[in-house]
Formats: sequence, C-alpha cells, structure tokens
Amino acid sequence: MQPLITTGPPGPRARAILERDAEVISQCMVREYPLVLERAEGMNLWDVDGNRYLDFSAGIAVMNAGWNHPDVMRAVGEQLQKLSHGAFLDFCSEVPVQFAEKLVSMLPEGLERVYLSNSGAETVEAAMKLARYHTGRKYFISFYGGFHGRTYGAVSLTAAKVIQRKGFGPFLPVIHVPYPDPYRPFGFSTDTCDVDVIRYIREEVFRTEVSPEEVAAIVVEAVQGEGGYIVPSKGFLKQLRELCDEHGIMLVVDEVQSGCMRTGRFLASEHFGVVPDIVTLSKALGGGFPLGATVASDEIMAWPPGSHASTFGGNNVSCAAGLAVLKILDAPGFGDHVTGMGAYLMERLKDLQENHAVIGDVRGIGLMIGIELVRDRISKQRAKEERNAVLNAAFRNGLTLLPAGESVIRFSPPLIIEKEDIDMGIEILDRAFSAVSL
Ligand SMILES: Cc1ncc(COP(=O)(O)O)c(C=O)c1O
Repeated sequence: MQPLITTGPPGPRARAILERDAEVISQCMVREYPLVLERAEGMNLWDVDGNRYLDFSAGIAVMNAGWNHPDVMRAVGEQLQKLSHGAFLDFCSEVPVQFAEKLVSMLPEGLERVYLSNSGAETVEAAMKLARYHTGRKYFISFYGGFHGRTYGAVSLTAAKVIQRKGFGPFLPVIHVPYPDPYRPFGFSTDTCDVDVIRYIREEVFRTEVSPEEVAAIVVEAVQGEGGYIVPSKGFLKQLRELCDEHGIMLVVDEVQSGCMRTGRFLASEHFGVVPDIVTLSKALGGGFPLGATVASDEIMAWPPGSHASTFGGNNVSCAAGLAVLKILDAPGFGDHVTGMGAYLMERLKDLQENHAVIGDVRGIGLMIGIELVRDRISKQRAKEERNAVLNAAFRNGLTLLPAGESVIRFSPPLIIEKEDIDMGIEILDRAFSAVSL
C-alpha cells in the first residue's frame, strides 16, 4: 500500500490537537514531527487528517507482530469480556501464568521464573533490586550510551543523553564504562575495543574505583538501542559473562528493545552464545499493552512474598495480548523472515550509503538497524540537524522513522515487513536525503 499524503501534514485537525497538547500535556514529551495518530494496521499508520504512512518505527520497537494484529485484538476483546484487572499481586488467575509458561518455553534454559510488571523501566528496577537482594552487594556497572529507563534505578544506569539525567541526581551507585562501539571506539581500536573494555573494567575500575566483591550486577544491552543501535563484537558478551562469573557478579542483559525476535532470535544475546543471569523484556512483549517481564533462574529469583510487587503487574488484558504475540513470534519461519528482511534492508541501506555521503555507518542485526549520519566520513562529526531534517522530510513524504543517539536513524519496523515495504521506504528515504540536499 502506497503512503498517501493528501493534507499537510500536519493537516487542520492535527494542528488543532497539537495546540491543545501543548497547553495541557507535560512538556517532557518529545515530538519528533507533527504526527497525530488516529489508527493503525499492519505496516501502516493513519493520522487524524486521513494521511497514510508506511511505518518503520513499530511505535518505538513495540508492534513487532504488526499494528493491530487480528489475533492480538481478538485475544484482548475476549479477555475484556471476562476480566481486565485481576489483582495478580494478591489473587491468582490463569492468563498471566499461561503467558509466563509460554515465555519461559521460548527462553534459553535457566531462565525459568518470571516477575511481571508494566514497563521497561520497571523490569530494570526489579532486576536491580533482585541482583542486590541475591548478592548482598550495592554497586552496579553499566555503559556509556546505555538506556534503561527513567525511574531512579533505571536512570542511574542510563548514560545516553545528559538531558535524561540533568537536574535529577544524586543517583544510585553506578559506574559507567565505555560500550565497545566499533564505529566510535572511545580511543580504543575498532578491532580490539571489546577486549579493551573488559581490560578497562578489570584493570582500572576494579583497581581504582570499586572492588569486584561490591558489584551486584553488570547491566548491558545486547545491542545498544537508544544509544544508536550499536552492535558489539561477537565475543564481547561472552567476555563479560566470564568476568561476571569470576567475581560472582550478576550479568543482567536488558533486552527491552532488542528482545522479542527483533534481531531474528527471541533474545539478541542468543546471537552471542550467552545466557544472562537476569533478563529484562518489555516493549514488544505486550503487543501494544503495558507489560514487562524480569526473568531469572529459580535460584536467583528467591525473594519472599511481598518483597517486590506492583498493583497492575500481570494485568490480564496485557497478558492475553502478550500470549497472542508470543504465539505469532514463535510460529515456524518467523525468525528466518526477520533475518531475511533484515539482510535485505541492510543491503538496500548500504546502496543508499553509496549515493549519500552523509551516511557514515550502516549497522545492525535482524530488523534492528541504524544508520549514523556524519558531516564527513573522516572526522565522523555527528550530523544531528541533518538527521532531524531527513526524519522530517521522510515523514512529510509518508514514512515514519525514529531517531536514536545524537545522529542515528533507527530502523525498527514491524517484523512482518515485506520486500515491497522496504523498497518503498528506501525510495522515500532516498528522496528525503536528496530533498534536504546534503
Ligand atoms: C533497552 C531499554 N531498556 C529500558 C527501556 C525503558 O522502557 P520504558 O520506556 O518502557 O520504561 C527502554 C526504552 O526505550 C530500552 O530501550
């Protein structure tokens, strides 16, 4: 289906709603471009003025099964007739249990006990508290560029953009270390930055800042998301796993964005042959309904009743939606489809890079792909304004994309994407790059 832009955007209805939004909604919301959504289906979004967009955002990597998937909508409709809020903290019901059973069946062995919550940040908070409870230690290590959410524990781990931290400290005791970004290796070399980061933790952090016996967890994204869709080397997570094992530190892998088949495997960490001690999942897990899961082994998740909980965790509607989503993601061939479409999108983006010098880097796994815009390819100066201009031009031509990091465009489309969608998106993007005459 071709995007169809007839009015604006923003058209008159969108403009009127945006004006009201500006009057009443907290200013901390971000509005990348003036999109006012009315409905969505599959790969498409419609705004309130009837414009249709091809969507490469999946609503911040959430609608992995496609917008308004009929199976998800049916499951939600049926559940609504029976029970929405089931007070799962105090009363048991079957749907959250069924959901957790299905989730565990799709995870690597050893990840077998599930704590249910409502958002990514909540899953991270639970992981931090669990790591402290299990180890009796206080400190955490996380990475520059990492994003884990905005509640106090999660934002303490986060070091993606200073605006997310400015004015909010002091934070929990977290030591930030470089993430091994092959394109911007923090003064290390591209080929060895993974080993260098591990050495830095071992030889600098543990020697000068914190004793490893005081570190409860190292919290890492298997592929950095908000920081710019950065893929570490093949060996990095394994080396981190070894470092954690050596010192009894919990390895927490935050798969809130990279999980749920986004990379072609259920967890991105599976590509790297690593099983986390604790894994966090949210975003795509609930198919558009608030749902988070923190998962660990029986041995690690051994906290007593009442030690951690939330009123809405295990909400029946979210879990019914989540169960339907998991069945879709678990269908035979789904992962291969993601891998195939990811490879095709990557190839098309590399072609685009040949025609537009501003594209400095194309990287990703599966359908978690980023392109980094730079003023020139030698200095790699970040092209933030240019990135924003391209996003806006794409939007005005009917393609919705989101930014990541300072100068990256992220590609996190619904995983049901087909080649024709990719071709259409690339055509619009090509025009957008040309229109902003970079
Ligand atoms: C890796 C990661 N962790 C945690 C979060 C926080 O999730 P939420 O916004 O649902 O709190 C995000 C959100 O983008 C994320 O990408």
